[in-house]
Amino acid sequence: MTSDSSTDLVTNASVLISLIVPTYNEAENLPALVDGLRRAFSSPFELIVVDDSSPDGTADVARRLAETAPVRVIVRERRAGLSSAVVEGARHARGQIAVVMDADLQHPPEIAPLLAQRVWAGFDLAVGTRFKKGGGIEGWPLYRLAISKGAAALARLLIPEARGLSDPESGFFAVRTDCLRRVRPTGLYKILLDVLVQCRPEKIAEVPYVFRPRARGRSKLGLRHMADYVLQLMRLSGWRPLKFAAVGASGVGVAEGVLYALGGVPFHLSAAAALEASITSNYVLNRAWTFRGRGGSPLRGWAKYHAAVAAGGLANYLVANALYLAGVSKYLAYALGVLAGFVANYVLAERWAFKS
Ligand code: GDD
Ligand code: MN
Repeated sequence: MTSDSSTDLVTNASVLISLIVPTYNEAENLPALVDGLRRAFSSPFELIVVDDSSPDGTADVARRLAETAPVRVIVRERRAGLSSAVVEGARHARGQIAVVMDADLQHPPEIAPLLAQRVWAGFDLAVGTRFKKGGGIEGWPLYRLAISKGAAALARLLIPEARGLSDPESGFFAVRTDCLRRVRPTGLYKILLDVLVQCRPEKIAEVPYVFRPRARGRSKLGLRHMADYVLQLMRLSGWRPLKFAAVGASGVGVAEGVLYALGGVPFHLSAAAALEASITSNYVLNRAWTFRGRGGSPLRGWAKYHAAVAAGGLANYLVANALYLAGVSKYLAYALGVLAGFVANYVLAERWAFKS
């Protein structure tokens, strides 16, 4: 047998693909989605629609489609978010491989079999990406693109499992159904982040696609979801950035205490002692709390932590100066410098001094 397993899927009638599509007010889009999927798949599939009692009658449309197409409908009583809808769909899925996608045709149906094939070929996860060659976004103004790229950068910064992905925000991916069934959503929308952290896929494929404008209706994503996203990142990162910031603040208190205790000592000496005391107490607290159980040898970690802090201080200084030269007011420039220093500090601590 020399056949390529990835093309086998197209002809292998025994592999069922479960397409899981959460819906909220997508009655107008479902018929076109089913058409598109029928054209795209030459192997068997089932479309599982998980609808949250949409007022526009999406569930009725889905039931009507189910008379002539492999569609199954799950209705939940109230709107409870895309992520939990996807997990609910996976629990009802009969296929070994699940493809998660949206109903509004922003995720092109013709890409869905490509994602499934990657998993069939042995990848643990296949993610549709807008940010690789061949992918893209149609009709987005620059500011939306910037927000999206910023959100992706934040995810990569805070979630180690998201680091290898060009589009960790993607809502279009294929994975083994049994993994998806076990996922506990930590947010409303970004189920892929939960899959990355909770299923720990090792082999990940990326498949470029063009995110098209919505076929009909409007996006359900609002400001509330941005806040939910940040909360989700915090939960998934074990609240580490906040703990790190709290430890940093405690370090200021330690330094002030040392200055007070060394009342008679010349300032250039007591300030140095205060700085060293705060770096060491920050290290001890971060080791015991923020990054508990990580970091290897305490002495080497302590030395590395000094280097990380020095680099953070340098980043603070350079960014503040660069912004000031660029015309930013000195207070804002310094504040943004502090932020840059904090980020540099955190990244170096997380990836280096407290490497797991
Ligand atoms: N059941 C259910 N419950 N479905 C929902 C809910 C909900 O509370 N909220 C949204 N949906 C459904 C929509 O009906 C649609 O099928 C899909 O989830 C995506 O919602 P959109 O409102 O179209 O989101 P978007 O286009 O802004 O963003 C989507 O694409 C991005 C890029 O891949 C989402 O999938 C994002 O998570 C993704 O990053
Ligand atoms: Mn959409």
